[in-house]
Amino acid sequence: MNGERVLIVGGGGREHALAWRLRQSKSVEAVWVAPGNGGTWPDNVAADAMDVEGLLVLAKARGATLTVVGPEAPLGAGIVDRFTDAGMRCFGPVAAAARLETSKAFAKAFMARHGIATARYEVFKDPEAARDFVCRAPWPVVIKASGLAAGKGVLLPQSTQEAVEAIDELMVARRFGSAADEVVVEERLEGEEVSLLALCDGKVAVALVPARDHKRALDGDLGPNTGGMGAFAPTPALDAQAIEAVRKTVLQPVVDGMAAEGSPYIGVLYAGLMLTADGPKVLEFNCRFGDPETQVVLPLLEGDLAALFGACIDGTLKPDDVVCKPGAAATVVMASGGYPGAYTKGKVIQGIDKANAIEGVQVFEAGTRRDAQGTRVTSGGRVLAVTGIGNNLQQALTKAYQGVGAISFEGAMWRRDIGGGLGGQS
Ligand code: AMP
Ligand code: GLY
Repeated sequence: MNGERVLIVGGGGREHALAWRLRQSKSVEAVWVAPGNGGTWPDNVAADAMDVEGLLVLAKARGATLTVVGPEAPLGAGIVDRFTDAGMRCFGPVAAAARLETSKAFAKAFMARHGIATARYEVFKDPEAARDFVCRAPWPVVIKASGLAAGKGVLLPQSTQEAVEAIDELMVARRFGSAADEVVVEERLEGEEVSLLALCDGKVAVALVPARDHKRALDGDLGPNTGGMGAFAPTPALDAQAIEAVRKTVLQPVVDGMAAEGSPYIGVLYAGLMLTADGPKVLEFNCRFGDPETQVVLPLLEGDLAALFGACIDGTLKPDDVVCKPGAAATVVMASGGYPGAYTKGKVIQGIDKANAIEGVQVFEAGTRRDAQGTRVTSGGRVLAVTGIGNNLQQALTKAYQGVGAISFEGAMWRRDIGGGLGGQS
């Protein structure tokens, strides 16, 4: 058999990690990333991740045998449906199944239909009714735009007044446009957060190692929410027995429910969980790999990743095919000064090769590009995810921070307390 020719759609740290891991697959002959970044260069192809027709033309022109979709927006736009109709193999859920992420109102109703534990909630289309509800809600509330809002559509008000303001921001000022035509008001949960990702083939869900993401910008979980400032895996918060329990009560019921509703779930199912006093509850589903969770989950996954994705598409995934390595991985995101607010781009980045030369360090690039000379410069908010791999969490964190210490660019900021600060300072 000829090798797999893989097209990866997206351009962040997650896609660099996918490219890095897929290149290690014995079955893979070529990897391209559209549009990619400075880390996946020179295998980048200029393309817009939302241009499904353009990507289809590209995949055919390159003779791609497998397309792997990183971000949620093209999945929501039906890239898998379109590729499959055209006879192309594309890893990810069809648009109807991706609604678990693209419509929080759908996800909540789906969980209610299938008995999956989640926060209590109400859905509103009318700001008046929503305002009225938050003023007399029987529980502290979280307010969410139902549609895609680039990870920014969740508001955590501290008072009734702030809750009313949040409703107005979403439904009257329409900060996220039509993404907040419907708003989910849900019960605020307390506990530790865990990201549990699973590979799904339409019939079974097989969990990967549980990860912990650090979403706030600043040390001590202060500052605004971001896409994620660092992560580690496995998190001790979920032991093997607890993983199996979540698989049975959350992940597998999603796959069974989607199959029963006529949209078999194929791809990665990401459950964002809160470990509450009453057991794990779902905060959200994502229909794709997490960023930066991928940068710690993939280094711990054994085997041929392209073959695993192929088994998902073919409906032949076996739980025993998914083997996680012992040890731990941690990643520290280096961001542009000002992120998640305004920041400047085009800063020269030094030391990536030096960091990669340290044993147990792998730098995944996110907001980077190469200039005309091939020099890496910053081009986004989250610039790098510096991953350390070790025998245990402490070692992995130490490695990650050693990597960070080798790298510099003007205005760089990163959290010093990923993994609870076990990695020491740099
Ligand atoms: P989401 O995009 O739905 O994961 O929300 C972003 C972040 O908001 C989550 O990672 C949590 O930290 C927080 N969050 C979301 N829903 C809730 C909830 N029901 N209770 C407490 N925190 C929440
Ligand atoms: N790290 C959170 C996400 O990928 O949505």
